[in-house]
Amino acid sequence: MRMASHVQERGFGDSLDPQDWRPVREQAHRMLDDILDYVQHIRERPVWQPIPDDVRAGFRSSAPIGPTDLTAVHDEFMRCILPYATGNTHPGFMGWVHGGGNVAGILAEMLAAGLNANLGGRDHMPIEVERQVVEWMRQIFRFPETASGVFVTGTSMANLLGLLIARTALLGVGARRFGVAAEPRRLVAYASRAAHGCIARAMDLSGLGTEQLRLIPTDRNHRIDLDELERSIADDRKADCLPFAVVGTAGTVDTGAIDDLTGIARIARREKLWFHVDGAFGALAVLAPNLAPRLAGIEDADSIAFDFHKWAQVPYDAGFILVRDGSAHRDAFASPAAYLRRETRGLAAGGVWPCDLGPDLSRGFRALKTWFTLKVYGISAIGAVVSRSCALARYLEAKVAESRKLELLAPVALNVVCFRYRDEEADRLNATIVADLHEAGIVAPSTTAIDGRLAIRAAIVNHRTDERDIDALVQAVIARGDALQRRSAA
Ligand SMILES: Cc1ncc(COP(=O)(O)O)c(C=O)c1O
Repeated sequence: MRMASHVQERGFGDSLDPQDWRPVREQAHRMLDDILDYVQHIRERPVWQPIPDDVRAGFRSSAPIGPTDLTAVHDEFMRCILPYATGNTHPGFMGWVHGGGNVAGILAEMLAAGLNANLGGRDHMPIEVERQVVEWMRQIFRFPETASGVFVTGTSMANLLGLLIARTALLGVGARRFGVAAEPRRLVAYASRAAHGCIARAMDLSGLGTEQLRLIPTDRNHRIDLDELERSIADDRKADCLPFAVVGTAGTVDTGAIDDLTGIARIARREKLWFHVDGAFGALAVLAPNLAPRLAGIEDADSIAFDFHKWAQVPYDAGFILVRDGSAHRDAFASPAAYLRRETRGLAAGGVWPCDLGPDLSRGFRALKTWFTLKVYGISAIGAVVSRSCALARYLEAKVAESRKLELLAPVALNVVCFRYRDEEADRLNATIVADLHEAGIVAPSTTAIDGRLAIRAAIVNHRTDERDIDALVQAVIARGDALQRRSAA
């Protein structure tokens, strides 16, 4: 069924819409069924499989100047794209920190594409949807009514926004005009050594420089050492630097550790520093009543960055930042322009538009899939997913402890378990085990380094993961480790 070709046949060339909608509707239903089948039967597929050389090579083509039948393009998607995706929809996916997506979110994405809304600004209901999600988050994190928030791609971007807001809050809006170079003292921020690399990147991208990020040592539980933090701030003041922000992590990428947020809040208040929380996945532990107390102090943050696409299972991408002081948020980004003039009525009505709250002008409707997900399942169901992921992590921890062949490399704080197969050459062996597991398509953990030692890292995020997947992980690691040891002995 051809879509674009109809246009040429008609000779108008003025619209891409089909002339005959019936076959397009039929094809649309087939496409919807195919993707729902994919999700429904995801467990029967390999988690991941390497892209065969012929598929990769055959996929490359010259730019499609002429039309291709929609059915043929969808067939190509089914053959070449769908089977070779990352695999994070699969319950056996435990690598990095990936959410599993959800059916309501898939459907919402389709509706959002149909509306084709631009969420940069103007007066329309999609913006109200985003405002509604901001308001829910404000209530959940117990921020004041003056708070504001905005969707971004992910927490890397949200952390960058957090540091830019902190910078402008300290130096004033003049810093946006004259740049940080106008401030003779070096602006310094603080985070723990376990902080995600995107904090350093945010320092780089904001022109403050990675050298001005002090990476504070951590304690045995991988949490920031508060005495070291205070010492470092004092040293910087003595050296005539200008401390401006401290980043606490709620759920570190390597081990899921949660910094002492109350302690950081106290130091930040005393030192007049902006307190930003990187809660990429961990912040939404606030939705699980049994875990929320561990985030005590997060309500005192000046800004919180987190992702709905991780533990809230919203399809990618759906990053978010919540800012306590909405006017500080606007001060960092709002840039009046004649062509974006606000009116008191009509489509251009409204005071604050999302484009005043971040660097993007044109923005998609990330809020819709988030709104659908939160409404369809309910916030307590998302909290139950979070809680269950952590229970599964404890189940895995126990399995590791039971086996003489395995060792745990870090305490299990939330949903991340770092362990490995014991061996004299454990780094090499465990890296091989992980690559073999990926290629076998059974489970997909990732790796990291804990105290310089390579760890198999299982981050349990997906709502579909259950005990079977944890058992499969443990069995596969042991079986592969045994086989590799036998092979090297022979
Ligand atoms: C603690 C932490 N911060 C930041 C990020 C980056 O988030 P994103 O990938 O959404 O940019 C991650 C990603 O896993 C993370 O775990």
